Amino acid sequence: MIKWPFKKKNKAPEFKTNLIALAEVDSTNSYLRQYTPATDENMTVVSADFQTAGRGQGTHTWESERGKNLLFSILTHPITMPLRSQFILSEAGALALKEVLDTYTDDISLKWPNDIYWKNRKLSGTLIETSIAGGHIKNCIFGIGLNVNQQTFESDAPNPVSLFQILGHEVDRESLLKQIITAFTKYHEMAVNGQHGDISARYHEALYRRHGFHAYEDKDGCFEAAIVEVGDDGLLVLRDQEGRFREYEFKEVKFIN
Ligand code: BTN
Repeated sequence: MIKWPFKKKNKAPEFKTNLIALAEVDSTNSYLRQYTPATDENMTVVSADFQTAGRGQGTHTWESERGKNLLFSILTHPITMPLRSQFILSEAGALALKEVLDTYTDDISLKWPNDIYWKNRKLSGTLIETSIAGGHIKNCIFGIGLNVNQQTFESDAPNPVSLFQILGHEVDRESLLKQIITAFTKYHEMAVNGQHGDISARYHEALYRRHGFHAYEDKDGCFEAAIVEVGDDGLLVLRDQEGRFREYEFKEVKFIN
């Protein structure tokens, strides 16, 4: 296990991030759920070359070829944030990934709630797990799987794509991770400092399918609708072709291609 503490300059009080790089682990999210940070540690990042039990959203698993991609989780302690602001943290994390990925390629968007898409294909997924104390967010774990250098996908994940497939060459995973941590720190601080309007505006601007009517499916069947907004509570609001508003929690509606 390599420990690489680094400190962000020109900040008062000093913001300390600890990066732990592992060759293999069951799941980087599960690792951080058991982890006790040092008292002066604001943010902990654990990355792994391979996960034996990588977890996706809901009951899904997250598969990734050994040593090819980025598999990492970021633990923060946004204790001043009330539980109802939880979705802003999710938006901030997604925006950080987009800001970095925009420097590699065009056509990056944020598929509600926090997938990163390139065109119509999934480049990255995030699993967020929070723990609460007194109505506030005590710990927040952002678990991110980003397809970097994998050339073929054999799992049944829908529409996966990697940076290698987009760019036609390998990308240095270590420097990509450092770029993401820097961007994540910036957006996370914006969220904690209450810049919610700014974050929400940028999130909406970056949304996949933010313009026009597209196909969706809910428990009653398929329909065409346009995105109206994503509420502060994270609910997706659609307007169908009859002008009816439909509101969904995650997993209640599917995007159909
Ligand atoms: C999704 O289903 O889209 C979310 C996938 C999240 C996968 C990442 S990989 C690093 C971290 N550790 C896990 O076990 N899951 C997340």
